[in-house]
Amino acid sequence: MIQYEKVNGDFSLEGKVAVVVGGAGGIGEATARMYARKGAKVVIADCKDNCPEVAADIAREYGVQTTGIKCDVTSQESVDTMITGVLETFGEINVLACMPGFVDLYRATDIEISNVEKHIAINAVGVFRVCQAVANQMIRQGKGGKIVCITSQADFIAINKHVGYTMSKAALVGMIKVCALEWAEYGINVNGVAPTVVNTYMGERAWQGKVKTDMIEKIPAHRFAETDEIAAAVLFLSCSESNMITGEDLVVDGGFTIY
Ligand SMILES: NC(=O)c1ccc[n+]([C@@H]2O[C@H](COP(=O)([O-])OP(=O)(O)OC[C@H]3O[C@@H](n4cnc5c(N)ncnc54)[C@H](O)[C@@H]3O)[C@@H](O)[C@H]2O)c1
Repeated sequence: MIQYEKVNGDFSLEGKVAVVVGGAGGIGEATARMYARKGAKVVIADCKDNCPEVAADIAREYGVQTTGIKCDVTSQESVDTMITGVLETFGEINVLACMPGFVDLYRATDIEISNVEKHIAINAVGVFRVCQAVANQMIRQGKGGKIVCITSQADFIAINKHVGYTMSKAALVGMIKVCALEWAEYGINVNGVAPTVVNTYMGERAWQGKVKTDMIEKIPAHRFAETDEIAAAVLFLSCSESNMITGEDLVVDGGFTIY
C-alpha cells in the first residue's frame, strides 16, 4: 500500500537519501541541487569522472551530506558497487531519480542496429537495472520509496531521426507502468517525467540551426525548457505530496504535444 501522508505543500525531502543517476550534469545535476535544497542527502552517480566534485559543490552550497560515485548503468557490477557504496555511506535509499541518457540521430533506414542497441542498453535496460536494484533495496527496508525516470516528448510524438531514442524511451514508459503496478504494494511510486527539448549538452547536440528554430516555432511556449523546470516536476514526484500518483508520465513540454 502507498500510505496517505497529510499534504502540507512543503515538497520536503528532509532526512531522505536520494540517489541521482546521470547526476553529474544537465537535468540530473539540477535535480540533485533541488533535492539538496529540500533537505535530502544526495548521491551523485554518473559514468563521468566528476561525481565527487559535483557532490562536494552541492554539499558546500546547500549544507547537506552528499557523496559522488562513478557508475555505468550498462554494467550490473558497476550498479551493484554503486548501491553498496550508498548503503555504506548513508545506510538506506529513499528516492531514486534515474536519468542517464544517450541520443544519436539517424534516419530509420540508415541507423546501425548496434546504435539502436546502445540506446536501449542505456536508456531502457540500464535504467531498469538501477530501478530493479534500488526497488529491491527499498523492499528490504520496508518503508516504501520514490522512483522517477526521465522519459521524453518522443514517447508521444514521432520526431525525425529519433528512431533509436524513441524505441528506448517507449520501452521505458512500459517499464514505468509495470513496475508501478508491481511495486505499489511495497509503498513504492514509479513515475516518469517527459520533457520537451531542454537546454543541456544533449539538447544542444540534437537540436541545432534550422531544426532548432523550426522546433521552437512548434512549441506553444516558444522556447526550450530549462533544467530547473524539469527538476521541479521530478521533485514533485519524489516527495509525499504526490503519493497518489504512480505509473504516470508527466509531460513538461510547453504545450508541444497538445496537437
Ligand atoms: N535535453 C533534452 O532535450 C532532453 C529531452 C527529453 C528527455 N531528456 C532526457 O533527460 C535525461 C537527462 O539528459 P540531459 O539532457 O540532462 O543530458 P546530459 O547529457 O546533460 O546528461 C545525461 C547524463 O547521463 C550520463 N550517462 C550517460 N550514459 C550513462 C551511463 N551509461 N551510465 C551512467 N550515466 C550515464 C551522462 O554522463 C550525463 O551526465 C536523459 O535521460 C535524456 O534522455 C533530455
